[in-house]
Amino acid sequence: MIVVPFDSKACVAPVFRELVEQLSIPSTSEVDFPYDWVLTEDNDVVVLKELSRPDLKPLYVDLIPTRRRYKSLPITKRGSLARALGRSTKTVIDATAGWGQDAMLAWMMGYHVTAIERSPAIGALLLDGWRRFKRYEQANRYPTVIVGDAKSYLVKHCADCIYLDPMFVFRKKRSSLAKRRLRVLRELVGDDEDREMLFESAWGAADKRVVTKRPTHAKPWFRPDQTFSGKMMCYDVYLKN
Ligand SMILES: C[S@@+](CC[C@H](N)C(=O)[O-])C[C@H]1O[C@@H](n2cnc3c(N)ncnc32)[C@H](O)[C@@H]1O
Repeated sequence: MIVVPFDSKACVAPVFRELVEQLSIPSTSEVDFPYDWVLTEDNDVVVLKELSRPDLKPLYVDLIPTRRRYKSLPITKRGSLARALGRSTKTVIDATAGWGQDAMLAWMMGYHVTAIERSPAIGALLLDGWRRFKRYEQANRYPTVIVGDAKSYLVKHCADCIYLDPMFVFRKKRSSLAKRRLRVLRELVGDDEDREMLFESAWGAADKRVVTKRPTHAKPWFRPDQTFSGKMMCYDVYLKN
């Protein structure tokens, strides 16, 4: 269970108050203890605190590019993600936005991106990450972030490419922050067991292609038309015609 501090609706910065109201996250006064997570604000940053692990730093979404985070800057369209998204693609719906890293990469490659996340808490972190990014970098257009289930969104919206990266069991070695982010996502959102239904919605909404991401050790969901492999992840492409 994720809660916000009971005074957050009255006392903290307007942006956090708006997020809490918009996403209907309960406060500590509305829910009995124990709860495992607190979404709160720290120095103008929306953060997620893990109550069972007070030794760990709060998590937040940081989209500001650094060479450490995005190994080759500026981002070009030569890597496996770009090849999977496609040269003729202009619009991308990232239907499983999570921590927003793939949506950010797609945006940096010049695609028009809509990012959808169904967990209200992760959605709040993501909305806040983009709010801070907008102060850091001026651009004509930023990704649109939607908090809700992508299956419903895709009934009424389409894009050249729909991108799916649901939760998978990850076996290979990763950095401790990446491992922690995955563990937290798994604890908060589970295993995305409706992924085949999500694929169906994506197929209906894609004008040109659906791209699914998976760890290299996992099997493709179906029989893809193309696969672009990176070191740890593969992108399977399903073409519409
Ligand atoms: C592995 S994470 C995605 C990580 C993301 N690609 C990134 O770069 O940070 C999967 C996310 O998809 C979200 N998700 C799964 N199914 C969804 C759906 N039907 N609608 C919206 N979000 C969904 C989960 O809540 C989870 O946060």
